[in-house]
Order: sequence, then structure tokens, then C-alpha cells
Amino acid sequence: MTTSPGRRGTGRKSRRLKQVCGHYLRVTRCFLLSFFLGHSPTMLKAMKNDGVMHDKFLEWAEKYGPVYRLNVLHYVTLCTYCPEATKEILMSPKYPKDKSVYKRLFYLFGQRFFGDGLVTARDHERWYKQRRIMDPAFSSLYLRGLMGTFNERAEKLMDKLAELADSKKEANMLQLVNCVTLDVIAKVAFGVDLDLLKNSSPFPKAIETCLKGMVPYLSDIFFEYNPKNRGYVNEVREACRLLRTTGAKWIGERKTAMQNGDEVPKDILTQIIKTASQEENMTEEDEEFMLDNFVTFFIAGQETTANQLAFCIMALGRHPEILEKAKKEVDDVIGMKRDISYDDLGELVYLSQVLKETLRIYPPAPGTSRDVAEDMVIDGIHIPGGFNVIFSSYVSGRLERFFKDPLRFDPDRFHPDAPKPYYCYYPFALGPRSCLGQNFAQMEAKVVMAKLLQRFDFTLVPGQTFDILDAGTLRPKSGVLCTLNHRDYKNK
Ligand code: HEM
Repeated sequence: MTTSPGRRGTGRKSRRLKQVCGHYLRVTRCFLLSFFLGHSPTMLKAMKNDGVMHDKFLEWAEKYGPVYRLNVLHYVTLCTYCPEATKEILMSPKYPKDKSVYKRLFYLFGQRFFGDGLVTARDHERWYKQRRIMDPAFSSLYLRGLMGTFNERAEKLMDKLAELADSKKEANMLQLVNCVTLDVIAKVAFGVDLDLLKNSSPFPKAIETCLKGMVPYLSDIFFEYNPKNRGYVNEVREACRLLRTTGAKWIGERKTAMQNGDEVPKDILTQIIKTASQEENMTEEDEEFMLDNFVTFFIAGQETTANQLAFCIMALGRHPEILEKAKKEVDDVIGMKRDISYDDLGELVYLSQVLKETLRIYPPAPGTSRDVAEDMVIDGIHIPGGFNVIFSSYVSGRLERFFKDPLRFDPDRFHPDAPKPYYCYYPFALGPRSCLGQNFAQMEAKVVMAKLLQRFDFTLVPGQTFDILDAGTLRPKSGVLCTLNHRDYKNK
């Protein structure tokens, strides 16, 4: 087809006009989108295709330094890794947990979820009252008494691993340790035997569904209104309801036992019942409040420890020399003993270092956030009050300025004589709102790891990814597939 010069000129002009208009529209759209949504689209993009949001925070921290600003919708959010600000804010009871996250988690897609339980309570008095009542179930005296359960449940895992070693089948370590930590929390916290390595149960899936559901729920306020997400949203609500109805059943059974004068353990469930009204006649809200803490402990007390264990096995599988050193320590301290004692745990110093280093690079609960009402100076920058601030242990743990060659897995960073990290390592958070279950979790993790190292040689199945999956908590994407061989530990 021939075109006249005039028409060709008009064609060029109109193309140019289209280009200019297109560009202008794109810029305007970007401007309007960023005006209304702030960095939300960038963050959603970062999380697409299984991306980890904290990797974006790390990239920005490296680019912009110790404090930078994010606009999430119309909220002003700061991210900081400044150790002084971390200390000042997290160590003080003055700054409540950030309402855009913790208040929102009262519900999950409209279904009551964490409610006003221990992790999400924002009012200081209400939180403090609960924490004081829960403390005895985490005292070192009480925890010592749990060594029997930790040993017994870890033994069930060893039996399962022995079967897999005999049959030369691959082990999905994340799935297996998930069963153990869920068995432990059900038994220790609520006095219920699940025995998940033998029996099937809807709980692991329900917990995973709730946690995964938290990611779009927190990051995209429009998610639940999009008709194409309706099926998924209903699935999450259903999972959440399952946890709460189970809680109601278990709490009911325990209350009946208490009313009948039966002897009941002073476990987490008993304390949960105490955190609600002390009156004979509980209100509906008291009942709901107990369920808030039931869900809180079921979720907070299980996934995180399982993920730490799986990451630890992955890291050891990638570092044979560190694995050998850890095995040697286990052989020296426990030898061929079956039951590990509380005192043995204190002597497994290198294993503690390995677990700490695992949490530096792979913190399962990577961050926390607070609301700050007043003006503040962070790293020399004056910040007007009325902002919220995100702290990421993931970011600090991976910054060269705090940890030399940060991606190198090196447990000697946590050698007892090494200098302690200064407000840049906090996988259990810091201050009054730090993890109540930290000692519980590390005792449980040590018992499982010590038995695993004592009994088995394991190798990572080649070709699997070492990527991280952000599914509400951080976990190894591959599931950590291993082949296992029995160690001749009885002849040592
Ligand atoms: C490796 C395992 C664990 C890790 C990495 C971990 C990490 C954390 C973190 C980072 C927080 C602060 C959350 C926030 O600010 O939003 C927290 C709080 C909490 N964790 Fe853990 N946790 C672990 C295991 C456990 C276990 C086993 C339990 C209970 C049996 C537990 C119970 C709690 C509770 C109740 C809180 C809320 C404390 C409060 O605000 O008073 N955690 N945990």
C-alpha cells in the first residue's frame, strides 16, 4: 500500500501524539496510583511469584540506609535498622503494636482469628494481665518438666525416620518436623494426643491455610472483595473456624474436668482459662477471648519452631564440616543415651550456636512493627509523630555492616566469647513483647536436632532449591528433602 507524503506525515504525527499521550497517561496513572496506593503496588509486585517481602526491605535498606519511608495507602511507614532506634522503641512498653497489622489480625477475612490474644493485644494493660497469667507455664521450672514430652515426641519422629532410612525413601523434613511440633504443642499446651506421624488430622492444613491467608489479607485490602478470590477466601475462613471450634471443644472438656474437681495440669490451656473472666458465668466475649489465645498458641507455638528446624537441617546439609562438628558434640555430650536431660541441653553449646545462626539468616517470624505517636529523631533524622515503624530481623541479620559476609553460614558468630550483636539480631523480637515461647522452642528444637544427629547421617536430595517461601512465616520452599542412613551410634 502506498501512502502520500501528507498522509505519511499525518501518520507519524498521530503516532507521535499517541506515544506522547500514552506516556502521559502512564505517568498520570503511575502518579495517581502512587498518590493513592503509595508503595503498595511495588510491594505486591515484590511478593508476586512467591517473592519474599523482606528481600525488598533488604534491597531498600542497602540502597537508602538505616531509615527510609514507605507509603502504604495513606499511611506513613518507616523501616529502620538503626540499633539505637530498635532499642529505644522495642524495649519500651510505650509504643503499641502497629494497628494496621495487629488490629487487623483480630479477624481474618471477616472471621475472628487472633482477636485480642497475646500476640495481637495492643492495649498495654490488657496484654500485661494476660502475660502475667501465662508466665508460669513458661517458667524454667515448668519447662524442665516438659523434657519427657519433648523426648517422647522426638522419639516418634526418630521411628519414622528409621522407617524411611530402611526403605530408602526420601524424607520431606519440613513436613515431618511440622508433625512433631504440632504433636508437642497439642500435648504440652492442651493435653491432647494427636500423634500426627501415625494419624491424619485436618490441623496442619488448617494452620498452614490460615498463615498463608494472612499474607494477601495484610498486604492487599482489596483482595477479599475480588470475586475471583471468593473460593480461596472461604477456604481460609473455614480453616479459621475449624481451629476455633476445636478450641471451644477442648476448652469445654477442660472446664468440665475442673468443675468436677479432677486434677488438671497447670498447662497453657489452664492458664488460658484463667486469662478469661474469673466469674462463674462467663460472657460470650470471655469465651471468644479464650479462643483467641487458643488460636494464638496453636499457631505461634508450632510453625515457627518447625520452620527453624527445617532451615537448620537444610543449612547443615549444605555445610558438611559444620554438620560433623555438631555431630561430634552430640556424641560427646549424649553418646548413646536415649533420653536427653535438661542439663544435657546446656552442654550442647555448639548446637545452640548452629540454631542461633539458623535464625539469623532464616528468621521464621522476620519482623514486627510499632506505632509511634510522638516526634522522634532516628539516625539524625527528625520524624514527625504519627507513623508506624517496621523492624526486620531478616534485614539486620543479612546486612554486611552488622555481620561480615552475611550470607555465609557460620555458627562461630555466636561463640560464647564472640561479641554479642547490638540490637541487630532479634528473631524472637525484643523487650516486653518478645516471644514468650523462646526457651520452650529452643529446648524442643535442641532435643529434636540432637536425636537426629545422634541417630542419622542425612544428605540433601540434589537439585532442590534453597529458596525461602513467605507463607505467613518464612519456611524452606523445597520442604528440605533428604535421604537418610542409620548411624552406628550404639557402638560409640
Ligand atoms: C523458633 C520458634 C519461634 C520464633 C522464631 C518465634 C518468634 C516470635 C516473634 C518474632 C514474636 C513477636 C511477634 C510480633 O511482634 O509480632 C513472638 C511472639 C510470641 N511467641 Fe513466639 N516464636 C517461636 C516459638 C514460640 C513458641 C514455641 C511459643 C509458645 C509455645 C510462642 C509463643 C509466642 C507468644 C505467646 C508471643 C506473643 C508474646 C507477647 O506479645 O507477649 N512462640 N514469637
